[in-house]
Amino acid sequence: MTTTLEVSGLRKQFAIGRPAIDGVSFVVPAGEIVVLLGPSGCGKTTTLRCVAGLEHPTSGEISIAGRVVSSPRRGILVPPRLRELGMVFQSYAVWPHMTVRQNVVYPLKHRRIARGEAKRKVDEVLELVGLSEYAERSVVALSGGQMQRVALARSIVYRPKLLLLDEPLSNLDAKLRLRLRDDLRVILKQTGMTALYVTHDQAEAVVLGDRIGVMRDGKLLQIGTPDQIYNRPADLFVANFTGATNELPGTLIQCNGEFGVVDFGNGRRAEAALLHPLAAGEKVRIALRPENIAIGQGNGQGNGRGNGQGNGANSFTARVVEARYQGTQTVYDIELFGRRLEVLELGTAARHQVGVDTPICLPREACWAYRDSGPSSYD
Ligand SMILES: Nc1ncnc2c1ncn2[C@@H]1O[C@H](COP(=O)(O)OP(=O)(O)OP(=O)(O)O)[C@@H](O)[C@H]1O
Ligand SMILES: [Mg+2]
Repeated sequence: MTTTLEVSGLRKQFAIGRPAIDGVSFVVPAGEIVVLLGPSGCGKTTTLRCVAGLEHPTSGEISIAGRVVSSPRRGILVPPRLRELGMVFQSYAVWPHMTVRQNVVYPLKHRRIARGEAKRKVDEVLELVGLSEYAERSVVALSGGQMQRVALARSIVYRPKLLLLDEPLSNLDAKLRLRLRDDLRVILKQTGMTALYVTHDQAEAVVLGDRIGVMRDGKLLQIGTPDQIYNRPADLFVANFTGATNELPGTLIQCNGEFGVVDFGNGRRAEAALLHPLAAGEKVRIALRPENIAIGQGNGQGNGRGNGQGNGANSFTARVVEARYQGTQTVYDIELFGRRLEVLELGTAARHQVGVDTPICLPREACWAYRDSGPSSYD
């Protein structure tokens, strides 16, 4: 039932512009959910459409269950309907003049499945998406979230080998989006289906993906588990796009294996994790998550994130310049080495005063050093 998707060296050049996809390779192992994450225009939909067979790749190869379905070089292009996949889109692609049941049974009608068997399959999938009691209702009398569940039910009722989802939650309001996001993972895991899911929302990617691939300008920058993407981003863009929004420029003056020492000028130095090969003397940028800066804590106190025996816990004094109380957390802007950094502290009390100097601690494993290739290297 479930199947592996392999994409290798995929390239798509439209008639105009730079290549929309430029040498993208990845594998979705059977039963896994891979999420392609990236900003608008990075090539997510084009990749999905190439897998579906709706777009003809310029070069590269796509295989589903070990069978090559696209290979311009070998003259292979299997049409979409023979690829045995399901698709769910951003818009609720449901038939408005039909009931929920009629919508969901529709794909089975074309597959010559006996009536009793079809009814059983529809009931099963409606139960799975939580719409059993709405079966006989017209789809126009449903909420957006329910309509999207109908679209999902319809695309999985015939148990395709592979499910492709293109931002299926982005038309829903915030609350519904969160609920359906959590449900979607449970539903997909229950079916055991292989899925390729596209989004620009990092929270969605983390909740849904067994693995996340981060794309930019038609390229796949990194693919890995959410933990790898979040805690060992391959470059400054991935770090930035997944929430490490603070940057400190400096010069790497010493490398000691996994860690190095970065000089920020005027003798100010910090230890940082070297996530890719760097040499002493190189200009670097340190990326830091707002939630990884411990505010109000000096060296030795730690922040519960394991900076060990107090070593590697870079301690400085910073000025609090702004505080935005958000109820369950407070976001502070602090000034360090002449730059503004954002710090996030959980808790229902804002503990630090604007205009006051406060000790801060930057755990070395949370300070990621990347080569500084100039302003164009990051957004
Ligand atoms: N038919 C087309 N002709 C020319 N260029 C196209 C065509 N379709 C897409 N593109 C270009 O290809 C690039 C990738 O587009 P794509 O739709 O794959 O992006 P995306 O990552 O899905 O973005 P979004 O998050 O906005 O949906 C964009 O620069 C887009 O302008
Ligand atoms: Mg898109």
